[in-house]
Amino acid sequence: MSRYETITVTRCSPHVGALIDNIDLRTELSSRQVDELRRALLDHGVIFFHNQPISFEQHRRLAMYFGPLHIHVGGKGTASKPADGYPEIRRQHFDGNSKRVSGEVWHTDQSCAPIPPMGSILHQHKVPPNGGGDTLFASMYAAYDALSANIRALLDGLTAIHDGAILFDANSGTDYPQATHPVVVRHPETGRRLLYVNRGQTTRINELPRAESDHILALLFEHIERPEFQMRFRWADHSIAFWDNRCTQHRAIWDYWPEIRTGYRIQIQGDAAPVPG
Ligand code: SIN
Repeated sequence: MSRYETITVTRCSPHVGALIDNIDLRTELSSRQVDELRRALLDHGVIFFHNQPISFEQHRRLAMYFGPLHIHVGGKGTASKPADGYPEIRRQHFDGNSKRVSGEVWHTDQSCAPIPPMGSILHQHKVPPNGGGDTLFASMYAAYDALSANIRALLDGLTAIHDGAILFDANSGTDYPQATHPVVVRHPETGRRLLYVNRGQTTRINELPRAESDHILALLFEHIERPEFQMRFRWADHSIAFWDNRCTQHRAIWDYWPEIRTGYRIQIQGDAAPVPG
């Protein structure tokens, strides 16, 4: 029997991602619909929708079903900017004048914050007409599960520094947030263990000498980025991706210069700092 009665859920890959149909995000959702969306998010790590031309207000309402809105920490130099009149909505507009784009390296959003956002909802208004601008998503449960028992034992109890200066423009003169989080985290809702380091922000394992930390992080980044744990989402105008930022990573692909890609992203506050797995 299907676990879902109000929505249709179609998997995109074995480990991560599902497409949601049979819902109109422009309308108010029932508590049943919200419960099923939450379940789909927990089951698949990221959920996608097509043909959802929501307004900024509808975008905020959708995000607030899942928690208070997160305000981006640090990074005056980030490639995204707050949308006019909506401080919680980041505009991600890229075109022929862009020097870089947001998220072009594997990352967890804002892991440099003491309490990173639980999730992000990105609504693409306009994508390149001839393809390009896909986003890769990866499951950090699958990455953890695929580690050998010996490496898992080595990682137990370790913590790492996450530094906003790598992903943001380090020359913009901003104070960058930094946080320490466990290397292996337990998801607060599913209880599953997952790998919680990312190339975009993790700089150092605190309990190891620098050379060992560099090598272990390089090994973990390479492992996390294996295609077996990933899927690739192809956007259309008014597609939406809603990712569980606690157990997935993502990477934007900038293969469309000088074409235009414009999206708006809202982040939802996390409840607590990541806990050791
Ligand atoms: C991001 O990291 O939020 C950007 C993802 C994307 O533009 O595909």
